[in-house]
Amino acid sequence: MHSRLRLCPHHISNQTDANGQALARYLLNNPGVAKGKRVLDLGSGCGASAIAASLCGASHVVANDIDNVSAIATIINCELNGIGPVECLSDNMIGSQPKHYDLILLGDMFYDEALADGLHRWLDSCINAHGTTVLIGDPGRASFEEHDIKRLLQQIAEFELPKSVQMENYGLTCSTVWRYHPKLSTI
Ligand SMILES: C[S@@+](CC[C@H](N)C(=O)[O-])C[C@H]1O[C@@H](n2cnc3c(N)ncnc32)[C@H](O)[C@@H]1O
Repeated sequence: MHSRLRLCPHHISNQTDANGQALARYLLNNPGVAKGKRVLDLGSGCGASAIAASLCGASHVVANDIDNVSAIATIINCELNGIGPVECLSDNMIGSQPKHYDLILLGDMFYDEALADGLHRWLDSCINAHGTTVLIGDPGRASFEEHDIKRLLQQIAEFELPKSVQMENYGLTCSTVWRYHPKLSTI
C-alpha cells in the first residue's frame, strides 16, 4: 500500500486539494476500489485523486479540469509519485454524452449551486448509461450540505484536515468521503 502522495506546492496548483487528498487517502487505503477500473477525476485540481487511482492499478485514468494549470500540476505530481502521466483533459464534460467510466471521483465540486445542479443531472446520466460508481469528497460546505444530492449519499470515510488546510478553509476541520446512491432515499 502507498503511504502518502507527493504533491507540488499549492502556489503551482492553486488549489487547497484537501478533498482530493481525502479521496486519494480513501483510495490508497482501499486499493480494490480503483484497481482495474476506468477512472475519471472531474475537477481534478492538482490530480491527487487521479494519481491515487493510478497508483492503485486503475486500467485508465483521466484527470479533467477546466483550469489548464491543473494539467501542469497533475503532470508534475505524476512525476513526483513515480508514475507515467495520466490523461489530462480541460474541456467541460458536465452535460456531455456520458463516456464509459467505472468510477468518477469528485473532490469539492459542490461549492456552487449551478455547478452542483448540472453535475447532479450529469452524474445520473453517467450512472444510467454505464452503471458508474460515484465517490465525492467534501469538507461540509453549506452549498453541499443543503444540496438535494446530500440525502442520496452514504458516508464511507472521514479524514481530519491538516491544520494548515483548516486555516485556509475557514475552520472546516474534516473532509468526508461519500458514495452516491441515486435511489438511496427519497423521503
Ligand atoms: C475546489 S477545486 C477542487 C480541486 C480538487 N478536486 C480537490 O478536491 O481539491 C474545484 C476544481 O474544479 C474545477 N472545475 C470547476 N468547474 C469545472 C468543470 N465544469 N469541469 C471540470 N473542472 C471544473 C476548478 O477549476 C477547480 O480546479
